[in-house]
Order: sequence, then C-alpha cells, then structure tokens
Amino acid sequence: MAERILVTSALPYANGPVHIGHAVEYIQTDIYVRFLRSCGKDVVYFCADDTHGTPIEINAAKQGLKPEEFIARFHTEHQRDFHDLDIRFDYFHSTNSPENRHYAELIYGRLKEKGDIERRDIEQAYCEKDRRFLPDRFIKGTCPNCKAPDQYGDACEKCGKAYAPTDLIEPRCALCGTPPVRKNSEHLFFKLSKHADFLQSVLRKPGFLHPGLATQLQGFFEKGLADWDISRDGPYFGFAIPGETDKFFYVWLDAPIGYIATTEKWAKETGKAKSALDYWGADQDTRIIHFIGKDIVYFHALFWPAVLNVAGLHIPNEIKVHGHLTVNGEKMSKSRGTMVPVRDYLDQLDPTYLRYFYAANLGPGVEDLDLNLTAFRERVNGELVNNVCNLANRALSLLAGPLEKRLAPGRAEGPGRTLVESALARVPEVRDAFEKLEYRNAIRVITDIASAANAFVQTQAPWAGVRKPETAEAARADLSDAADVVYLLGALLAPVTPRLSEKLFAQLGAPPLTFQALEGAKYPLLDRSRPTGTPEPLLPRLEQEKVNGIIKAPPSEQAPKAAEAKAAGGGKEGKEKKAEKKAAAAQPATQASPGAGAGEASGEIEYADFAKVVLKSGKVLAAEKVKDADKLLKLTVDVGEAAGPRTIVSGIAEAYAPEALTGRRVVVVANLKPRKLKGIESRGMLLTAGPGGKDLSLLEPGDVPPGSEVK
Ligand code: MSP
Ligand code: ZN
Repeated sequence: MAERILVTSALPYANGPVHIGHAVEYIQTDIYVRFLRSCGKDVVYFCADDTHGTPIEINAAKQGLKPEEFIARFHTEHQRDFHDLDIRFDYFHSTNSPENRHYAELIYGRLKEKGDIERRDIEQAYCEKDRRFLPDRFIKGTCPNCKAPDQYGDACEKCGKAYAPTDLIEPRCALCGTPPVRKNSEHLFFKLSKHADFLQSVLRKPGFLHPGLATQLQGFFEKGLADWDISRDGPYFGFAIPGETDKFFYVWLDAPIGYIATTEKWAKETGKAKSALDYWGADQDTRIIHFIGKDIVYFHALFWPAVLNVAGLHIPNEIKVHGHLTVNGEKMSKSRGTMVPVRDYLDQLDPTYLRYFYAANLGPGVEDLDLNLTAFRERVNGELVNNVCNLANRALSLLAGPLEKRLAPGRAEGPGRTLVESALARVPEVRDAFEKLEYRNAIRVITDIASAANAFVQTQAPWAGVRKPETAEAARADLSDAADVVYLLGALLAPVTPRLSEKLFAQLGAPPLTFQALEGAKYPLLDRSRPTGTPEPLLPRLEQEKVNGIIKAPPSEQAPKAAEAKAAGGGKEGKEKKAEKKAAAAQPATQASPGAGAGEASGEIEYADFAKVVLKSGKVLAAEKVKDADKLLKLTVDVGEAAGPRTIVSGIAEAYAPEALTGRRVVVVANLKPRKLKGIESRGMLLTAGPGGKDLSLLEPGDVPPGSEVK
C-alpha cells in the first residue's frame, strides 16, 4: 500500500484574526500538500483552532462573552480566511471538542500509568482580588535589571532580560493592579527529564529537524531537561484533569493533541479511516509532518514526541520550521498597522499574489521572510504578470482569435519542439525543489522556463505570421508549442497559484496537468486535436496604491500619521519605515488628492467626500530649512486670508532649495487640522506629485491670485 502522509500546520489561537504572518505558514504548508497530491501521494492536511488558556478566557471576559462564544466567532472567521487564501485543509477542527477531550484524557491516563506524572508543590503569585494564580504575563512591575516600569513577569521588553516573576520590583496583578501574594499550589509535572536519551536519538534522525535547530536544542540537554508543568489551577478555560479538583490541562498539553482529535473527527465524518489511530498508532506506516514557526520548536520537538512516545503513539517524522514574517524590514506591529489581518489583504488583493511572493522567497531554513511592499509589487508584476501571464495571453489570444482555437500537431524538430523539450527536462529540478521546501528555487526555474518561451515567441513573431495564409500554419505550430509550455507552467505553478493554474488549464481547453502525469511525459504535451478555450484576463498588474492599501493604521492614529508622512516626506527614518508610513498614508492621501488614483485603494468616493477637502492656491512668501530635519522646510504661504499668511511645514527639502521657492505658486490643503512638526505648528499641506525624496514636484495652480479655490 502506498505510504500515507499526514501534514499539519500549527493551530492558530482562537484569540484574534489570522494575519499575513500566520499566512506564511499556512501557505507554505498548503503548497507542500498540493505538491504531494499532484505527485499522486496519499496525503491529508489538518488544522484546528487552539482554543484554551488564560489569554482567551480573559479576552472573552473583557467582551462580556463566554469563552465558547468568543472562540466560535474566530472558528468561523479563520475558516473563511483560510478558504479565501486558497488553503485547503481536509479538516479544520477545534481543540475545544469532544474528540480532543477524549484523546487528552487517554494520553494523560497513559502518562500516569507509566509513572510519568509527578505532583509537586510550587509557590506562585496569586491575586486575592481576582482569586486566581497569575501566570507570568499576568504580573507586571518594574524590571529588576534596567528599572523600566510596566514590564511583564517573564522578560523586560526594554532591556530584553529574562527573569522570574518573583524578581519584579513592585509586582502587581495585570488584571486589576493589586499586588499579588505568594501562595502554594500543587501542580502536575510530566517527567520530561526521563526522556533525554530518547529525545536525543529522535533529534539525530535524518530529516526530523533542520540540523541547525537540532544543534540549538542540544543546549537544553546540556543544562539538563526540566520536567514540564502540565496543570493549571482554575479558573482556567480548558479540560479538567480527571481525578483532580479544580485542575486543568495546561493549553500546550492539549493543543498538539488537537492534531489527533482533528484526524479523529475527519475519520468519523468522511469514513476515510476507522479512527485517528489509523494514522497515530505507533505501529502505523504513516509519515507525520508538522509545519511550525520558529517560536514553537521546543513544544513540537521535545515535549510532543516524548508525550506521544510514552503514550504509545506515532511520533512525528518531520518538523518543518519556518522563520517569521517582517513587513518592510521590520517586525510586524499592531500600532504601525503592519500586523495585517488576512481579511484586510483579501479585501484588496487576490491571494495568488501573496502565495506567489511567499513561495518566491521561501527556503527550507528558519530565516525571516520580508514582505517589502515595493519588492512585492515588482516581483509579482515582473515574473508572474509580465512573464508567465504574458506568455499565456500572447499564445492563447492568437490561437483563439485568428487561428480559430485549433492547435497544430507536434513537429518532428525545430526550435519549438526544442523549447518544449528543454522545459520538460527541467521538471525534475522543480520537483526536487518543492520536495526540499526550496520553493524559491522552484520559482526560479519556472520563471526561466517562461522567459525562454517568451523569447521564442518574440523571435518567431507569430502575430505577423497569422495574418497571411502562407505563414499562418507555421505561426500556429509555434503558438501550439508555446501553449505546451503554458500547460507545463500551469502544472508547475499549481501548488503555488492554484487559481491561476485552473484558469490556464481552462483557457487551454485541457484537463489539469499534474506532477505525476509529467513523469515520463513527452512532447507534445497538449492533446493537439482538442480546441483551446476562450482567453480571459488572467491576473491584473499590481498597483502600488492597492498594495499599500493593505496596511491600515489603527483608526485613532490614521489621520495624524498620514499628515506626518506627507509633510515629512520620509523624515529621518530608513527606507522601509518610509515606505511603511507612506503605505499608512495611502488612503487618506488619495482622498485629498483627486489626481492620485482615488478610489483604487479605498473604493470610489462620492463627490461630497472630495468636496470636504478645501484646496486653495497659495503664494510662497518665504522658505527656510527646519533645524534637525533634513527633509523639512518651513514655509510662509499667502493663501489670501485676512488673518495673514500661514506657516506650513513640508517635506520637500530634498527636492527644493528654500531660495528657489519664494514667489512660487502652490496648491494648499487649507482645512487640514494644524499639526506640530519639530515643534513648529504647520497649518495646511502642500500638494506634490512623485514618489518622494528628490523626486517630488510641487503642483502649480497657474497664475491665479492666492486664495483661489482649487476644485
Ligand atoms: N496555538 C499555538 C500553536 C499550537 S500548535 C499545537 C500558536 N498559535 S499562533 O496563532 O500564535 O501561531 C500559529 C503559527 O503561526 C505558529 O506556527 C507561528 O509560528 C506562526 N506565526 C505567527 N506569527 C508569524 C509570523 N509573523 N511569521 C510567520 N509565522 C508566524 O503558536
Ligand atoms: Zn488582580
């Protein structure tokens, strides 16, 4: 029987929307699963919501909801988000499910039976007001190292030092502010220390973990593995521990068991397996692969295999670890709006772009991956739209139009045949790259193939040939060979951009092509006797405005941020930060300048919205540099007001010398809230065009008196 493969992505917390950082993992996994399936493998892909623990319980309470109601909302949202990103789980379950309770109890029972659970008294911070023990993140106080106030109980965000909650100066409950007391409580520990040898042998298994990470984990063994506290005192949203009063499984005990529970649920619902044990039984010949981020390696590579082994279950064969997403070179941040919810992305853009960009940048290592919004647009447009889609458009529209959807039979020789055959020769490279999670290499080969085909079409110039009867058949033959390459590209890209591949197959009038079918495939690839389909637009070019539109500053900060970014034209920050701020500014800015493609980023606006912006012509009376701000100029501008000229600070210093500005006419946003920049109150904003920095030009209203309305 063929090997059965079970693949998982880490279970997202049911504590908020999934964001584009999470998407790295789910897209990476989904590509792998689609690839394996295309190779004809027997593979299932599972995920679930991770629902238990204190943060979820507390956030639910803050919203006046029962935890069950709170997590239900995210269960629906997460599923929709994943679906719309073209992620196809075989099942998406929840850790707050009967199946999970069953397996958590079963596994715990086995650990206990084997003598692997030990009771220990521990002293912990306790809030008498909230009547609960306080985990690290629920205690705040002054950092014992750098004295920064308001730091959590585990580590200081200012100086980075890690410490115990007991080390905090003036600790207090993060929920209510009361100083906690120390209180003893009995906890249950899993004796991880017993399993050091077993775990070291697991870590040495080839393919289990990236060798660099396995080496890193050696550090834990050298220090001696600590036993693992798996119980929490109530109130706690989770499963009660059988045989105990007011004790619950720690969320990280039952979270990975969610992988098993989901398998069980899927088995029962689809009948495709008798139970989860068809996959998770110790003696089953299955391959279990977990995809996770670098922050949760410890749980998956140490605790989890040890627990499974003691419980007599199948341990994972491979743990594939990826790095974290950064946006424009910086850690994602809520306050900067770069922790973009998947939904905000999807509101603007097709998932195909993001899937492609992630694939084009993903390797098998744990390096972080950067979503630089400019690189995003450039790569997607350059490689996917202008190369792959362009080839398809050229070939398909000529075939469908002048050539009446008829393909030519394969040729005995010639450059067209050579083109297809050399493309086919590269399939093993692509296959190998996907298999090794070297997606970026797969993409490189794929774009090479497309470039070669575009060059071929360029040389053969079939658009000229199709017009004359004596050359039409040669053109048809060339275009049919190009269509063969399009077919191949559809297959190679299908794991990454399934939507696009579906369109390609439909427009070629051909059935989906798989990696399995490509094994031993020969020229010609397409059944040349079948008509091609109807060409339709494949994928529009990415516009920077729309790309930037995925970043929304939090509502309260949106307006000032926009004004600042516009006025400062970048300020002193690095390039990325500048791009990011610009992105944050994109929406309000487009509303203020009708010429800048308003409506693209935020949908169309009514005239009334535009009319809110008062634009006036002004005349610069004086200009000078602003101290300590090399991008800013302080301008005195006459806007025809009785109260006299206004002071406006503008980020145009790189583009204009102050002396060149006196007497110049400008367009001023006259009803913008005043704003302080470098201590100077700026009343209004000058309209400019261009990307920024040196490349900026002031809009000129022409020779009209100051104060004339611009509309
Ligand atoms: N609930 C746990 C996992 C339990 S698995 C039994 C958890 N949840 S999470 O929502 O915080 O993260 C889910 C996955 O997304 C993790 O693998 C995490 O590494 C990954 N990512 C979260 N933020 C990420 C980025 N910024 N970039 C890439 N992956 C990210 O951890
Ligand atoms: Zn409290």
